[in-house]
Amino acid sequence: MFRYKFALFKQSNMKAIILKEFGDVENLVITELPQPEIKADEVLVQVKAISINPVDVKTRSGKGMAGRLKEFQPLILGWDISGVITKVGADVSEFQAGDEIFGMVNFPGHGQAYAEYVAAPASHLAKKPQNISHEEAAAATLAALTAWQVMVDNAKVKAGQKALIHAAAGGVGHYAVQLAKHLGLHVIGTSSAANRDFVLGLGADEHIDYRSQKFEEVVSDLDFVLDALGGENIDRSLEVVKPGGTLISIPSGMSEVLTEKAKSKNINAYFILVQSNGQQMKILADLLEKGILKSHVSHSFPFENLAEAHLQVETGRTVGKVVVTL
Ligand SMILES: NC(=O)c1ccc[n+]([C@@H]2O[C@H](COP(=O)([O-])OP(=O)(O)OC[C@H]3O[C@@H](n4cnc5c(N)ncnc54)[C@H](OP(=O)(O)O)[C@@H]3O)[C@@H](O)[C@H]2O)c1
Repeated sequence: MFRYKFALFKQSNMKAIILKEFGDVENLVITELPQPEIKADEVLVQVKAISINPVDVKTRSGKGMAGRLKEFQPLILGWDISGVITKVGADVSEFQAGDEIFGMVNFPGHGQAYAEYVAAPASHLAKKPQNISHEEAAAATLAALTAWQVMVDNAKVKAGQKALIHAAAGGVGHYAVQLAKHLGLHVIGTSSAANRDFVLGLGADEHIDYRSQKFEEVVSDLDFVLDALGGENIDRSLEVVKPGGTLISIPSGMSEVLTEKAKSKNINAYFILVQSNGQQMKILADLLEKGILKSHVSHSFPFENLAEAHLQVETGRTVGKVVVTL
């Protein structure tokens, strides 16, 4: 009898990858943990694909979101998931068990995406379009939301404007180019020569190979710049934005000196941090379903090899996105 009861109430286990301590990829350790409990406003997701971002790598090494997450034990990195709902919280009416969903979960908090099961607020998710894979859906979460929040919520870009998208071949950049074109902008993208055709294939009107050309010598009077590189790239980019224009930098914030320089040039220049947002995930889902937005997944690794996905992102040379599958 006792044994029967134990079997009835025992919580199921799952595989998860925990971060033992901040440092290199050896600290990412596969282990067994109980499946998470869900709150009333959450769903339990059986994860099919996870995308890996530079912030995963920065946080693993003790930067990025490490300061916010250091108290959590066990610490499970990751925010971007696509999967299938297996349980629904009492207050969730929008989704049901069996729905395929995707989203960026609890960013900039403890997303806990490196696991077979993730407890996710329903308000961070959207239904996955049926005509795209879990890999493509997982890819179009943090990076695509960033492109949306930068250009639509913050810069409020308008059709006919001229935009420069730095690192146009990368995770954020490849979505930003597609979204900017969809919004009617004239888009100039930077990458190395090897990714020229990829960037033009995304719809960019012009390409600059940053190794053979200084962008500030070939473009000027821009309405908007997306800086994905930081540091001196912000300083140089301030030279090409017209007064009243906007520069948004996403790597790590703006120095006081550069903020003052931007002010003196009447340029709106600032840093933003992407936030989980299910309403915007629904807009992205619609664009993905219609083929207006496409995920380019250049690398896919099995869950057990997640460390390799970190090493790939760490190269800083990824084309499109890196995903992990379960
Ligand atoms: N604040 C936020 O909310 C937020 C959100 C997302 C990302 N981020 C940050 O934004 C940055 C970019 O993220 P991501 O996911 O797009 O990175 P990513 O996918 O790793 O970017 C890789 C791309 O960068 C390109 N690249 C490298 N050096 C370049 C240069 N000097 N000029 C132009 N392109 C260059 C590479 O192209 P080539 O190989 O052709 O050089 C490669 O395709 C990261 O620092 C990330 O942490 C911040």
